[in-house]
Amino acid sequence: MTVVDGVDYGPLACLIGTWKGEEGMDVAPEPDGTEENPYYESIVYEACGDVTNAETQMLAILRYHQVVKRKSNDKVFHNETGYLTWDAVSGTVTQSFAIPRGVAIVAGGTGEIVGDGSVIDVSASLDSDDYTITQAPYMRDNASTQSFTHRIEVSGDSLSYEESTVIDIYGSVFDHTDANKLIRDS
Ligand code: HEM
Repeated sequence: MTVVDGVDYGPLACLIGTWKGEEGMDVAPEPDGTEENPYYESIVYEACGDVTNAETQMLAILRYHQVVKRKSNDKVFHNETGYLTWDAVSGTVTQSFAIPRGVAIVAGGTGEIVGDGSVIDVSASLDSDDYTITQAPYMRDNASTQSFTHRIEVSGDSLSYEESTVIDIYGSVFDHTDANKLIRDS
C-alpha cells in the first residue's frame, strides 16, 4: 500500500513513521587522523502530500528529521532535516537537506519497491550538473564536501542506511561515513 491520503509515495511509503537505532557508527575526520563515534538516533519521516512543478512534474513529498547522539556522552552531534521526493513518471528520488554547518545538498537517484520494503540510492557531487552541493565560504575553503552518497534499505519494520560524505579537509580527502540499523517505533 503506497497511497496515503490520496498521494502515491511509491518506494518512499514504507519509510513513513518514527525509527530508532542503537547500532550507529560514524567515521569522522580529525586533524591527526580518524575518529570513530558509536551513536544512537531517531529519524522521523512524515508524509507531506504532493507538489506540482512548472505545471507538469508531480512529486510526492516526505519531510524527515534525524537526531543523532554520541553513545559516549548522550549529546546530539548530528542534526539533519530535509525532504525526500518521489517522481513516479521518471522513477526518480531526490533527497534535499541541510546540516547546521552551512552545507546543503540536493541528491538524486532511484527508488525501488522490494518485497515489503524498498531500496533507495541517491548521490550528489560538487562537479555534477544535476545533483550538487552548496556550502558557506568557510566550509568551501576549509572542509569542502566533494560528494555524497546515501543508500536506504527498508524491509518491513527494519531500516538500514549507509552514507558517505567525501570531504576535502586538513590537506587530504576524507571519506566520512555513517551507517545504522533502525527499527520502526511507531
Ligand atoms: C549520522 C550522521 C553524521 C554524523 C554522526 C556526523 C558526525 C560528524 C563528526 C563527529 C564530525 C567531526 C567534527 C566534529 O566533531 O564535529 C563531522 C564532520 C563533518 N561532517 Fe558529519 N556527520 C554525519 C553526517 C554528515 C553529513 C550527511 C554531512 C553532509 C554534508 C556531513 C558533513 C560533515 C562535514 C562537512 C564535516 C567537516 C567539518 C569538521 O570536521 O570541521 N556529516 N561529522
